[in-house]
Amino acid sequence: MALNKAEKRINELRAQIEEANRHYYELDDPILLDSEYDRLFRELSALEEKFPNLKSELSPSNLVGGKALQAFEAVTHRTPMLSLNNALNEEATRSFDTKMKELLSEDKELTYYAEPKFDGLAVSLIYRNSNFVVAATRGDGTTGENITENARTIKSIPSILKTNLNGDLEVRGEVLMLKEDFISLNRAQEKVGAKLFANPRNAAAGSLRQLDSKITAGRRLTFFPYGLLLPENLRSTITTQSDIAQLLMDLGFTLAEDRSTVVGFEGIKQFYDDLSQKRSGLPFEIDGIVFKLNDLQQQSRVGYVSRAPRYAIAYKFPPEEEVTRVLSIDVQVGRTGSLTPVARLQPVRVGGVIVTNATLHNLDEIARKDIQIGDYCVVRRAGDVIPEVVRSIKERRRNTKLFEMPSACPICSAIVIKEEGEAVYRCSGGQRCSAQRSQAIWHYCSRKAMNIDGMGDKLIDQLISVGLVNDIGDLYSLEISDLSDLDRMGKKSAENIIQSINGSKKTSLPRFLYGLGIRNVGEQTARDLANHFNSLDALIEATEGDLLEIPDVGPIVAKNITEYFADTFNRDVVRKLIEAGVHWEQALKSKIGALNGLKFVITGTLSNFSREEAKERIERLGGKVVASVSKATDYVVVGENAGSKLEKAEGLGLAILFELEFMELLKKHDN
Ligand code: IVH
Repeated sequence: MALNKAEKRINELRAQIEEANRHYYELDDPILLDSEYDRLFRELSALEEKFPNLKSELSPSNLVGGKALQAFEAVTHRTPMLSLNNALNEEATRSFDTKMKELLSEDKELTYYAEPKFDGLAVSLIYRNSNFVVAATRGDGTTGENITENARTIKSIPSILKTNLNGDLEVRGEVLMLKEDFISLNRAQEKVGAKLFANPRNAAAGSLRQLDSKITAGRRLTFFPYGLLLPENLRSTITTQSDIAQLLMDLGFTLAEDRSTVVGFEGIKQFYDDLSQKRSGLPFEIDGIVFKLNDLQQQSRVGYVSRAPRYAIAYKFPPEEEVTRVLSIDVQVGRTGSLTPVARLQPVRVGGVIVTNATLHNLDEIARKDIQIGDYCVVRRAGDVIPEVVRSIKERRRNTKLFEMPSACPICSAIVIKEEGEAVYRCSGGQRCSAQRSQAIWHYCSRKAMNIDGMGDKLIDQLISVGLVNDIGDLYSLEISDLSDLDRMGKKSAENIIQSINGSKKTSLPRFLYGLGIRNVGEQTARDLANHFNSLDALIEATEGDLLEIPDVGPIVAKNITEYFADTFNRDVVRKLIEAGVHWEQALKSKIGALNGLKFVITGTLSNFSREEAKERIERLGGKVVASVSKATDYVVVGENAGSKLEKAEGLGLAILFELEFMELLKKHDN
């Protein structure tokens, strides 16, 4: 890159970073995500390295954070509050370990102290003769804000240490807001029409940096210490980072559970993998793991580089939130014609996967999140959760367009209707709409319905477009050659699919009813209907009044069912299916409700059934299987290695069925 081009880019980056710093540190209202910020920061540092003449004392790359907020008194830190070097992948972490070994001239594996990288605000606490006297934010690393009064409202900051210590002790750590406290705070804010916080960290920052400490007192904040400035007189007894952790606990602080010493790079990797798995279930947000040389002497031997200690590394997790752009908002047509707006996004890597689409659910949701076409938005993917658009970034809005629901179905052009009292817009095309047809087929084949393997949406769309399948009734006329003639379909796959289609003919009435895809008839309702009528013909002939006799069936469901069977198209489809050989065993009427209303919990491993099978057997007799044991549970079915649920059941004096007894019970009622 030419010098003048580099200078221009450096200036741009500095301006962007300064603006972002101001929003983040002074206004507690970020306009960039950490990951975006880090990218800009890295680009700036790299350019400044490459063009040393363009370096500047005043560059944001030389400062740790923002300016202190004016209204708080300034506190100069006794030793600067530093930052951490980040590792964004395994390789960078491995090099860190190699570097440590080199610097210490060690061949043996080194021991590291590992703990979460808390996603909160760095705070320093000063204790004088064991009494809490001053709390300060990090500020720019040298000078922070005096937030003592606010810190006094935090329960996990002890006002007096448990051990008598003479002189001053400085504890450093992170103030954060637990996920559950964040949710209740935002709920409360919403109720009074106040501003919602973007994430727990901003909520913690906004709560801690309140000039009125009464406001802070009303917000639940939590403090986790991660270090202390070791006083001279303790240096002979406290020699490792783990000793520091123990000392902090002895002094009365609470530490995060997930911490440990680990050995070598293998240990680092193991700890990282384990905590990655647990991340979304932790009570607070973390954005990585900090690994520090455990031995304090080793720490001082390797020392510091500019703004960070060399003896520690923050091995970052892939960010759970990223910023991207809403390129367009398309409408997807569901099985029952419901129109769902879907954001098409500029591809972005979030939580380790590339995200290009996210559902926006409905118009209310779009309004609530204030999303327009062309907006920059925050996309979130935590754990295995489906990616979602969290909010738009209004500060960056330029030339956007409002989304409107189309008045005609984008697939079949039938008019779009919105029923009174319903939030959903629907395509009125019914089975004439190929999108509805394809969704209906997909649903029929899905695991909980007829469980036909290999019938993905791409294949279904192909079958519809070449005219081989129009509705679910056509599935059973397919032949191997029909499938193997299609694009990208091998003979073997075709055979497997046909075999699976034929295998599905032997089914159960609840699965079949669920598979028909009648609006509002989910798995449970399908079971209730099967239990009640015990035959398809009886259900087809049922009136709304008959249906309303079933306890969990209300007027809307009853109407949907009668309308479904009144439609000749649907009756033809059902007839086609039965003629093709779809069948089930008729249960004996007298036995079918033998376990009606009884609640079962299954725990441990059964040797004669899978969980799913045991559940089906119970449900076939009208029983319900629930997840947790309570007073309302009727039977607890116990397999091998049953644990806490069994204990709880015994404690509550519930009826316990071991596997053989359970089998007897089924035998008594099955036929
Ligand atoms: S140790 C010399 N340990 O991350 C700095 N920092 O990106 C030693 N942080 O300013 C810091 N969790 O506020 C340390 N377990 C942890 C941490 C942690 C979060 C923060 C800290 C620091 C920032 C650097």
